[in-house]
Amino acid sequence: MPYVVKSIANSKWDTYWGFEMTNNRECPHGKGSPDWCNKCKSENPGGNQRNLSNDFDLTDAYSVETPEDNLDLYARWADTYESSFVADEGYVYHHGVAAAFLENFISRNGPILDVGCGTGLVGEALCANSSFQSSIEGLDLSSEMLEHARLKKTAAGQPIYRDLHTGDLTTSLNLPDNAYSGIISCGTFTHGHVGPEAFDELYRVAQPGALFALGINPDHFSNQGFETRFREDVSAGIITAPVYKKVQVYSTGAHAEERFPVGIFQLI
Ligand SMILES: C[S@@+](CC[C@H](N)C(=O)[O-])C[C@H]1O[C@@H](n2cnc3c(N)ncnc32)[C@H](O)[C@@H]1O
Repeated sequence: MPYVVKSIANSKWDTYWGFEMTNNRECPHGKGSPDWCNKCKSENPGGNQRNLSNDFDLTDAYSVETPEDNLDLYARWADTYESSFVADEGYVYHHGVAAAFLENFISRNGPILDVGCGTGLVGEALCANSSFQSSIEGLDLSSEMLEHARLKKTAAGQPIYRDLHTGDLTTSLNLPDNAYSGIISCGTFTHGHVGPEAFDELYRVAQPGALFALGINPDHFSNQGFETRFREDVSAGIITAPVYKKVQVYSTGAHAEERFPVGIFQLI
């Protein structure tokens, strides 16, 4: 069926799921938006919704499904991620995750790895605590996001990240075994981003005793089997039983009351 787009003058979207659309993108199956409608997607599996502007938000972040979608989104979002999304939404998740990490971390040899580090907000939050003396490395799929992390500096003017790695957490990582004394993550274990499949590699690169503090979207946690994965890993003697600290994600707006769990455990 040919696309019939009545008006996209005020829309940030360029293609639709193959049915007649107005610029308010109503789903004909009553789901409000075709973003959230599996029927729309199955009727036009080749269809794609692509936000052409640089004005991204939570809907865009939650609409991705594959690493390729993530690469495309974050390549175009990197320059405005902090100035628009973080500032406008009062995004404070990284402060809560960093605090949860620091409350449990005993300093030891080996750097911390920030997985899905993006523009480097977690590293910045860790280094804002003067008691934190470890070095930090970052890993992300998006080289554009990493370019922003590369510019982040401590109060003393040193780079926050001593090394930055481009890598896909859903595949094997080009990082050494037993290298990291801690693994931290915020905003990466979420819809369409990264699921529990990342843990085999994260356990491989972490030292025995390494501290993990992972912010996980609660719906993603339930839908993607994180609980089962952790239970199996505890039974297998790979990790300690996770404890969950709930932290604020947004300081303002409709989501200000939400709290997301940070899973905290150690590699055995
Ligand atoms: C919502 S951002 C969070 C960035 C940062 N941690 C923060 O809190 O601001 C999610 C990050 O996950 C990264 N990401 C998505 N899928 C990934 C994957 N498969 N492997 C590595 N990083 C990924 C994205 O490139 C993006 O930088």
